[in-house]
Amino acid sequence: DVIDVRGLTGEGYFTYDPGFVSTAACESAITYIDGGKGVLLHRGYPIEQLAEKATFLETCHLLLFGELPTAEEKEKFEHTITHHTMVHDQLSDFFHGFRRDSHPMAIMCGVVGALSAFYHDSLDINDPRHREVSAFRLIAKMPTIAAMVYKYSIGQPFMFPKNELSYSENFLHMMFNTPCEEKPINPVIARAMDKIFLLHADHEQNASTSTVRLAGSTGANPFACIAAGIAALWGPAHGGANEAVLKMLDEIGTYDKIPEFIEKAKDKDDPFRLMGFGHRVYKSYDPRAVEMKKCCDEVLAELGLENDPQLKMAMELEKIALEDEYFVKRNLYPNVDFYSGIILKAIGIPTEMFTVIFATGRTPGWIAHWHEMIGGNNRIGRPRQLYTGEKQRDLEK
Ligand code: ACO
Repeated sequence: DVIDVRGLTGEGYFTYDPGFVSTAACESAITYIDGGKGVLLHRGYPIEQLAEKATFLETCHLLLFGELPTAEEKEKFEHTITHHTMVHDQLSDFFHGFRRDSHPMAIMCGVVGALSAFYHDSLDINDPRHREVSAFRLIAKMPTIAAMVYKYSIGQPFMFPKNELSYSENFLHMMFNTPCEEKPINPVIARAMDKIFLLHADHEQNASTSTVRLAGSTGANPFACIAAGIAALWGPAHGGANEAVLKMLDEIGTYDKIPEFIEKAKDKDDPFRLMGFGHRVYKSYDPRAVEMKKCCDEVLAELGLENDPQLKMAMELEKIALEDEYFVKRNLYPNVDFYSGIILKAIGIPTEMFTVIFATGRTPGWIAHWHEMIGGNNRIGRPRQLYTGEKQRDLEK
């Protein structure tokens, strides 16, 4: 049911809804979620079908333009994105201002925000062509920047993107190859990487997308808005959860400690939560988690890691939580981040990079929402508050 309160605006009434549990701040035609039934549709297409039959770039096209590309559009779109993957050479210098042990999300936030200082020719938000070029640039450059963040942290030279590689192959090439040794990209891992990006591509008005919209509603440029989204994504209750899953597995340490940590998660006096479990919207299984689990099984089999002790621990945790009354009663199923963390670790991506990969995958969603808002009936976002401070008083001096 929708209660439209627009008519009350300016008449002294407003709704109070901490955490925006039941407040819609906009209309959107991009993504539909039915959390109770575990349904997620992008432009009407179920996520399961997209994960099975589409690529990440096709999904980007769908989110941005409303339709999956025809064969001709696909070729053109892939060509455009491929030819925007390089970053301005001076942007490489920018990295050297950061400490090598900076958190990758700190660098990502700064570097993506800094794109607005390099691409002045696409900053006019009232020009649809500028908006489109910014969208292409952001989608294309995110994996390049993500890989540069990693290379910088380990002191290796940056790798240039290669135009003959696909989006996900290119990312893996820039992450793991070096100028001394270029290994071919494993197709199973490239497909898994593509699926990870695709399954994160959009999720309607989550905290980071709402942040992008709120920042964008002021007329800020798209690079600045996406940097704001990256900052919001960083937190462990949102995109930082896949990193937190691996940290939690480290903390649990050994198989026999699992029951102890399950009890800690249930204890209301203990702030510990099972990371990678629960979701604000899904009160049944997250459909992305189902696809991610399939992908996880494929990757572990491909890499022969089915018996890795930490990964076995994760599977046991999943099993216990799915049977435990506390988690069952509260509909706390494993979410997409639980499995993405396990896959990324298996691929050899360091834990600190996990949220950067989430940000790369989420970029088309952020930019599609920004586009929809700027191209539509945009009004500056300005939430109200319930004031709980002092009544008016006089300064006695
Ligand atoms: N472990 C233990 N208990 C939990 C967990 C958890 N992971 N998640 C929720 N609960 C409990 C709460 O304590 C609460 O219990 P109560 O009813 O007895 O008080 C109940 O389940 C409802 O939880 P809320 O915090 O009210 O749910 P909310 O919708 O506000 O939070 C959230 C959702 C933030 C995802 C939460 O489940 C959580 O912290 N999970 C772990 C972090 C995580 O995995 N985040 C990733 C989200 S998915 C994404 O960003 C792609």
